[in-house]
Amino acid sequence: MPETAIRLKDAIFTYPQSGFKVICEDLSLNTDETALVTGKNGSGKTTLLKLCCGILRPESGTLFIFGEDANKQSLGKIGQNVGYLFQEPSRQLFAATVWDEMTFIGGILGEDPEAIKERAESLLRRFNMLDMRERSVYRLSRGEKQRLAIAAILMRKIRYLILDEPTTGLDGENKKALIEVIESLQNDGIGIAIISHDRGIINCCGQKRIHVEGGRVVQ
Ligand SMILES: Nc1ncnc2c1ncn2[C@@H]1O[C@H](COP(=O)(O)OP(=O)(O)OP(=O)(O)O)[C@@H](O)[C@H]1O
Ligand SMILES: [Mg+2]
Repeated sequence: MPETAIRLKDAIFTYPQSGFKVICEDLSLNTDETALVTGKNGSGKTTLLKLCCGILRPESGTLFIFGEDANKQSLGKIGQNVGYLFQEPSRQLFAATVWDEMTFIGGILGEDPEAIKERAESLLRRFNMLDMRERSVYRLSRGEKQRLAIAAILMRKIRYLILDEPTTGLDGENKKALIEVIESLQNDGIGIAIISHDRGIINCCGQKRIHVEGGRVVQ
């Protein structure tokens, strides 16, 4: 059954340092849709999607995550349902090796080690990184970091995924692999919001458009 994963209502957010304001009257993101978020550089796309998953909290208005007020949920709790890929992937990588990055959270949560191993191997294979499992995260290229960050998010059984310019640094082959992953998530009933200027992504993810202009959502 499709569900409303995220609803941001009457939200106003201002960065104190720059005064830039994002205003969102009513935005719903559903599990049976892929929403493409477009807009010029600096229009507020990243800010809007950070508001949609509680990384930034609005000064007024309400965020609902799967029907529940996000003010009553910790970021950790939200993260069990909603995955978020930062525009700069280095920001979310923390482990020493590729394998540790993939398996760390599952280990902490006490998941079955065999299941963790299988899932990590299958995701690394999909992103053409299986032979890099012992590599240092620190020494990966931009495109490799990008793929690892996405693969690591998918280790959790999330129900909604937010991707901020996920094709940055990816070559044609890896872009194609990412599009295949997106399509299989769509088939699994996982909703996606994606900021992208990439043709291939726009073609596969263009059903619902959210356009942002000067901090305002123009759907
Ligand atoms: N931490 C911050 N403090 C103050 N101002 C910020 C901060 N982050 C972003 N801004 C400002 O808010 C505005 C919107 O930024 P945002 O990153 O949301 O835009 P964007 O549409 O994602 O841009 P891009 O296409 O370049 O990624 C910009 O003017 C930016 O300078
Ligand atoms: Mg951005």
